[in-house]
Amino acid sequence: MVQKKLWGGRFREKTDDLLDRFNSSIRFDKRLYAQDIQGSIAHCRMLAKERVLSDREASRIIDALEKMKREIESGELSIDEGSEDIHTFVERALVEKVGETGEKLHTGRSRNDQVSLDMRLYVREAGERIKSLIKEMQRALIRTAEKNFGVIIPGYTHLQRAQPVLLAHHLLAYYEMLKRDRQRFSDNLKRASILPLGSAALAGSSFKLDRKMAAKELGFAGISENSMDAVSDRDFVLEFLFASSVLMMHLSRLSEEVILWSTREFNFVTLPDAFCTGSSIMPQKKNPDLLELVRGKTGRVYGHLMALLTVMKGLPLAYNKDMQEDKEALFDTVDTVEECIAMLTRLLKEIVFNAHQMKKAVNEGHLVATDLADYLVRKGATFRNAHELVGKMVLFAADRNIELSELSIEQMKGFSNLIEDDVKKWLDPVQSVKRRSLYGGTGHSAVKRKLKKAIRELES
Ligand code: ARG
Repeated sequence: MVQKKLWGGRFREKTDDLLDRFNSSIRFDKRLYAQDIQGSIAHCRMLAKERVLSDREASRIIDALEKMKREIESGELSIDEGSEDIHTFVERALVEKVGETGEKLHTGRSRNDQVSLDMRLYVREAGERIKSLIKEMQRALIRTAEKNFGVIIPGYTHLQRAQPVLLAHHLLAYYEMLKRDRQRFSDNLKRASILPLGSAALAGSSFKLDRKMAAKELGFAGISENSMDAVSDRDFVLEFLFASSVLMMHLSRLSEEVILWSTREFNFVTLPDAFCTGSSIMPQKKNPDLLELVRGKTGRVYGHLMALLTVMKGLPLAYNKDMQEDKEALFDTVDTVEECIAMLTRLLKEIVFNAHQMKKAVNEGHLVATDLADYLVRKGATFRNAHELVGKMVLFAADRNIELSELSIEQMKGFSNLIEDDVKKWLDPVQSVKRRSLYGGTGHSAVKRKLKKAIRELES
């Protein structure tokens, strides 16, 4: 049943049934009920301070709103979809509880500043939740890195084996990406926590509302400076979608790597049965669906970002109904991100690395060629010349189907008289890694330092 409108006064005819449905947002914005109630309480306090509401009226309204929230949460009160949107529903339910007094709440307020506030509150809460999920995933990465500390894997460029690195270093690369993700959400929160209330429809309220008091009550960093901007700004949603897109991109890259690593071709990891699925026809199959879904869902988050950017790009000031389209984009993004990051974290905790297979891969493909060039430089060659020489040695070894490290000292000496017996230890992948202990490198001591630092970073 479609209920009475908040704006019926100037209309002679009844709204078209299909338009009612087309226009209404309650199906999805009902998820803003808690924020709408919280924002309404703050608005009510401003009205009371300004004496638009008596203290008695204000406390009746606030009690009823708080009760409404409890009832919605317990299921006693269900959000009926006959209301146009959540703001309409909350107002109607309030009037049902306190009668005419409830009709005073919307004084000096519009759904335009109201919805902007609700969305800001929602973004803030979702951002905080995602930040702690990211932290948990970072912890899982650190633990996995610690557990597999000495394991060496081929580092790749162009997906071709390049140089030996610590698996821990590889995993900590994702730790850094996630650190930036967390920073991006924090940054987003700074701009989201600006109070739009008082802006009313667009011009600002004619009641002298104590906006700073409301901002303080809601834990906002400040109040908006321009009422027209405040009601038509969705930058904070876009920034949230962007931060989410970059985060998903990182999750997707990790998923892609683990998918590759779990193939027979790589065989670097064994995925736990609990996180894989099978095939309806091929009995032997064990598929990494979880990871593929994370990779796939990245696309839909990007889609939401593009959709909202496009929605906003042609809008004249101030509020336009187009902006209602921000909700499903935001909500689906929040659900997707939360689910993906939680799933990946669970998987990370259970993943088993095949150190033996990784070691084998490190020893095939001349991964220490750069070390050999560095060795020659230390003996006096220019890097260009050393590069050329080692290239020739790689070719020589490859032609004989052996590894660079399998060449005899005599064979090597044949390429350059700079090469001496001490060359052998420059061909050992473990030494290759150890040597790279400068800040940020893959060397054991550098990575150990970073692990310690990462733990401190997570505590702060
Ligand atoms: N459901 C609307 C939205 O999400 C609320 C604001 C409606 N404002 C208006 N003037 N019609 O944007």
